Amino acid sequence: MANIDAFGHVTGTSIYVDDIPVMQGTLFIKVFDAPVAHGVIEALDYSEAEEMEGVVKVFSYKDIPGENQIGGIIADEPLLAEKEVHFWGQPILLVVAENEIAAEEALHKIHISIKELPVITDPKEAFLKGKFLHNSRTFESGNTENAFREARYIFEGSADSGGQEHLYLETQGAYAYPMEHGSIKIHSSTQGPTQVQRTVAKVLGIGMNKVEVDVARLGGGFGGKEDQASPWAAMTALVSWVLKKPAKCVLHRMEDMRMTGKRHPYRSDYKIGLDKDFNIIAYEATFFQNGGAAADLSPAVMERTLFHATNSYQIPHVKVQAHGCKTNLPPNTAFRGFGGPQGMFVIESAIDHAAQKLKVSRESIQARNLMENGYQFPYGQIVEGCEARTCWEELNAKYPIEGIRKDILTFNENHAFLKKGMALMPVCFGISFTNTMMNHSRALVHVYSDGTVGVSTGAVEMGQGVNTKMLQIAAQEFGLDASQIKLETTNTTRVANTSPSAASATSDLNGKALLDACSQIKARLKNMLWVKNDLEAGAEVRFEGGKVWMEGMEEPAIWIDVVLDALARRINLSAKGHYATPKIHFDKIKEKGHPFAYHVYGTALTTVTVDCIRGTYELEAVHIVHDFGTSMNRLVDLGQIEGGLVQGIGWMTMEEVAYNNKGRLLSNALSTYKIPDIYSVPKEINTHFLPTDNNNMAIYKSKAVGEPPLMYGIGAFFAIAEAIRAFNPDAPLHLPYCAPMTPEKVLMALYGE
Ligand code: MTE
Ligand code: HPA
Ligand code: MOS
Repeated sequence: MANIDAFGHVTGTSIYVDDIPVMQGTLFIKVFDAPVAHGVIEALDYSEAEEMEGVVKVFSYKDIPGENQIGGIIADEPLLAEKEVHFWGQPILLVVAENEIAAEEALHKIHISIKELPVITDPKEAFLKGKFLHNSRTFESGNTENAFREARYIFEGSADSGGQEHLYLETQGAYAYPMEHGSIKIHSSTQGPTQVQRTVAKVLGIGMNKVEVDVARLGGGFGGKEDQASPWAAMTALVSWVLKKPAKCVLHRMEDMRMTGKRHPYRSDYKIGLDKDFNIIAYEATFFQNGGAAADLSPAVMERTLFHATNSYQIPHVKVQAHGCKTNLPPNTAFRGFGGPQGMFVIESAIDHAAQKLKVSRESIQARNLMENGYQFPYGQIVEGCEARTCWEELNAKYPIEGIRKDILTFNENHAFLKKGMALMPVCFGISFTNTMMNHSRALVHVYSDGTVGVSTGAVEMGQGVNTKMLQIAAQEFGLDASQIKLETTNTTRVANTSPSAASATSDLNGKALLDACSQIKARLKNMLWVKNDLEAGAEVRFEGGKVWMEGMEEPAIWIDVVLDALARRINLSAKGHYATPKIHFDKIKEKGHPFAYHVYGTALTTVTVDCIRGTYELEAVHIVHDFGTSMNRLVDLGQIEGGLVQGIGWMTMEEVAYNNKGRLLSNALSTYKIPDIYSVPKEINTHFLPTDNNNMAIYKSKAVGEPPLMYGIGAFFAIAEAIRAFNPDAPLHLPYCAPMTPEKVLMALYGE
């Protein structure tokens, strides 16, 4: 089934926050943000701004009726700065005017003087100075100390990865208006409607029951709107609440880039130990997470770094620890992969290091260390349904690795200034929120008296196609045509206490709740049909093709007749479904448990060509074998693979978030921040479905697909590194594991000694 939003998107009729027709009297908000990264506010004068034509009021933290607090996990982040600022771009004031231009002009009439304090942008420096956002954690299995004593080969080094701008097409924004009885309604571009509701209630000092959050869809979230949609929603709510008028705040691109957090940059140290056969027997890593100025989602992101620190490899002795370092950058946040990619980059670097020194191919070390069923992850979960090796072997069968390697060698021998390289990248990613309590969901289904169906869930559509999948489920369960089903907006009044749409688990969680709701309604209908037709209770009833087939009856009933019949008998044709992922648990003291419903596996083979005169590179091909389970929508899933892959390649190669040492974002616009375009995507992407059908924890056995493919992009880094070494064998010394691998870095490595 085609994505139900496709037509709207290409014809421009899909509605985003900024497309909602505004009501008369709507006020517009511009945010006045910190012009330095760290300091004490000594003087702040906005009287001139407030007197300008069209300006209604300037809000400071003093105008907040409830709490000036938006921290999600840890209460460490004010909505509006009070006495100090901690990052460049931190919101201080809200200028409210009758139109955006007036608000914008008034920004320039605000006078602020700040006594600057020392700025930290580097997590290792923060670590040394004892600046932490949250507790350090260690995952451990076996005994690395002993194992390193026995290891034949030991390699140590460091690996750093950079930040990443989400660059959702739709910038952050919200539109709020007062409703009756002291309540308020907010349209927010958020992955977490409940989080917005909770934050607004706290900031306004009112009950959550007075706050209705509605989300039609997002023009992309990628994690950037899991928690960081809340401040803009809270600001519009604040203005609307105090002034009793509709209020709107939609950030411009440069404001969004400056004021919001990004993927966490990490600096990391590793130590890897191998035996004589190149089995990895011990691995240690220390991760320094650059969290920015407030905790935001950093504790959870850091946890996932530890969960995925050994990627797809079976290593008996592991000790990985992580520190959540506080710096003067905007609070960094969720980004596709959620800390996993940062962890995987480090072990891939360690393996690369070992391969260089041992003069063997990376893939030979990777292949022999892939995990198998029965292996126990350092965090205690036992590997089941493992497809690491099946994916690898399937890929090798389709694209013989040795043959490709030979072709590359031949090519490199015959070309002086063009060099090719290749890399394999296996991925193993855990599905479930690592915080067990978040793994639950609900769905609300109404069957109307004309037989059509309305579906509400807690899932937010952000381009990943979850609404299409929800629609498929309802259509399948009732045996109706897709045109009979309507996917409603995501709304906190209809479906409450939801977890954000994140962790790639949205379809599983909401789909299973939806299944439950449909089953309840079907059970009532079945019951009615058994009684009415004198059938045995338990006789099979199938809903298919708009008809209802009953075991023991020759003719099926027509769906609409069954519906009318049920209503005539006063049967409830609405249901609320609920789902809570079974079996999962995790003990954060012991750091052991079974946190994931299941794991997703896959392997990618990336080939690149480096232009050794210019330092530029082209991605020739990426071949992927991915474990989709039994995909319920191959087109949507394929889109996730390709989009995730390209986003990962961008992170690893060209996207460079640059701050100067004063904490000012230099890559603050699309002229200075480069994301993959049509010319930089791989010339060929071949995705092969590894069909498996053993996973009952996935909705219809269709495994989660949102985040895992991003990590295939890590292969691009190592493929480029290999091509560089083909040109300059001395390059390793000058080619630290430091992503992104921009053309500048490539050029320097090509000609470094
Ligand atoms: N795909 C699109 N088109 N837009 C997005 O914002 N977000 C990604 C991924 N794929 C995203 C996307 C992220 S970060 C996650 S966690 C998942 O989708 C969330 O959706 P899911 O749980 O339905 O996979
Ligand atoms: N993944 C994504 N988002 C989250 C998680 C997670 O594991 N935990 C909390 N938010
Ligand atoms: Mo995705 S980073 O879990 O929103």
